[in-house]
Amino acid sequence: EGSKLWGGRFVGDTDPIMEKFNASIAYDQRMWDADIRGSKAYVKALERAKLVSTDEMEQILHGMAQISDEWSRGVFVIKPGDEDIHTANERRLKELIGAPAGKLHTGRSRNDQVVTDMRLWLRSAISTLADNALQLITTMVERAAAEIEVLFPGYTHMQRAQPIRWSHWILSHAVALSRDVERLQELKKRVNVLPLGSGAIAGTPFDIDRELLQRGQANWLFVTNLCLNHYFLCGCVHLTLISFTGSSLMPQKKNADSLELIRSKAGRAFGRCAGFMMTLKSLPSTYNKDLQEDKEAMFDCYDNVQAVLQVTTGVMSTLKINQTVMEAALSPDMLATDLAYYLVRKGVPFREAHGLSGKAVFTAESKNIALNQLTVEDLTAISPLFGNDVSSVWDYRSSVEQYSAPGGTAKSSVAAQVEHLRNWLKKH
Ligand code: ARG
Repeated sequence: EGSKLWGGRFVGDTDPIMEKFNASIAYDQRMWDADIRGSKAYVKALERAKLVSTDEMEQILHGMAQISDEWSRGVFVIKPGDEDIHTANERRLKELIGAPAGKLHTGRSRNDQVVTDMRLWLRSAISTLADNALQLITTMVERAAAEIEVLFPGYTHMQRAQPIRWSHWILSHAVALSRDVERLQELKKRVNVLPLGSGAIAGTPFDIDRELLQRGQANWLFVTNLCLNHYFLCGCVHLTLISFTGSSLMPQKKNADSLELIRSKAGRAFGRCAGFMMTLKSLPSTYNKDLQEDKEAMFDCYDNVQAVLQVTTGVMSTLKINQTVMEAALSPDMLATDLAYYLVRKGVPFREAHGLSGKAVFTAESKNIALNQLTVEDLTAISPLFGNDVSSVWDYRSSVEQYSAPGGTAKSSVAAQVEHLRNWLKKH
């Protein structure tokens, strides 16, 4: 068993079932580039510490460049004994340059190596996800700007509640996504800490320049954090879907498979997160092989959230809306709140106005007519403050224009939200 990188103290072969069970190469090979970059930095620190000669360093760097080339051309050959990406790269280095390869792991453990790899990999993964999310936000904001005139019913409790601008609804999700981007960028700072040079637990006895390499080790929680962030992102997109299916945006009645899959991925990401948290529960500190489970969750969350963001961008840029159908879905009962505000403007306390408007709704229902079909006589029987000018309440466009405070659905307010997000996008 001398061929194993850790084989020295073992006799006999590993059972093939165990070998397969133990191996992570099938999936952690995705970190080949991070693994090589980490080793390149490490060998430079070894050279500074005089643990390898300049010539040996050059040979290792050269070998690493060759391995990198093999991976990028898709010709790297994984051999049966390659347990993970770290052992595979080192095995190949030895084949290519011989003895000096054996010096690369001086003072290093796969414990600090794997965390380094993951952090490097995550750093660029997070940037990609943030870029994808920014693209989606841009698509949403420009769509909101272009279709600012379109009204449709806003829902609460799955019921049509008040007329709002379609743009207002789009932007509510764009803003939520902008917070997710901020979370990702915050996470990136925490991921961007280098554990290399910590060894397995005790540190390194050699004069490794850790300033060159940097800080910390033994914190797997960052993977949980990433999963949680993924969950948030998926959850956001999930909410987007609820409103899509609830309105009449797709009159051609094709199945919204893209949107249903987007919704489904939220559960998947959350499951990954919960699953890995269970693995972490009660683990003794420092490295345990249990931690190898983090990678599949990490890759799966990343792949799915990335796909979700791309598909949602596709949906948001190609979806055709039917303004006529959307506005036909508005109904006068959705203006009952406005009817109360009409009385408020005549000095009635809101609580009372709410009750009086409720009476009007009840009267219309008992007469089996729409709220705006009540005569002025019907209304003055409820409150003498109602007058002919009540007809002004029954206009959807003037209804939305009342909501001009920041965050409201008036055109000026929605346009301000568009500007706010455009400026935010410039800074991110
Ligand atoms: N493949 C392992 C993982 O992903 C690498 C670390 C192995 N370390 C160890 N002490 N066995 O977790």
